[in-house]
Amino acid sequence: MTSSDLPTTLSRRDFLSLGLGALGLAGLLQSGAITYQFLAPRTIEGEFGGVVHAGELVSFPPGSVTEFPDGRFFLVRLDDGGLLAVYRRCTHLGCAVAWHPTEDRFTCPCHGSHFDQAGVVENPPAPRPLDTFAITLRDGQISVDTARPQRRDHFSVDQVVYG
Ligand code: FES
Repeated sequence: MTSSDLPTTLSRRDFLSLGLGALGLAGLLQSGAITYQFLAPRTIEGEFGGVVHAGELVSFPPGSVTEFPDGRFFLVRLDDGGLLAVYRRCTHLGCAVAWHPTEDRFTCPCHGSHFDQAGVVENPPAPRPLDTFAITLRDGQISVDTARPQRRDHFSVDQVVYG
């Protein structure tokens, strides 16, 4: 049998089967892409869930607390110059804490917990210090990775980043 002996036309049934198969495959691919977009982790640079470039170290004087609302953290420069990126989520039930410079502490509006500048509990019911985020300090530039909060049960100096 040569190629010229092969049938060159599709039957109506074969044509419809082929068309329906192609449509089904296209629909499956599209729904897969939509599902992936919905379930994929959202890591937008500069926002919570991604890496936030906070700026130059020299912009944050020792003893300062600066809020980064898009990153949901406070950049704390301790009196000794060390850095902490403190997650604003209260460790009691998750309300957003606020920094009160005149009182030199974080307070939670929901049930009254207080935290010191390093995020350590001064007044319960919060059961443990505020979580922190990893800081990278390179060429005097500060970056904070907000993808994974770091849980801590107490404060220790190894949580602090020094330039
Ligand atoms: S959520 Fe902060 S004290 Fe309850």
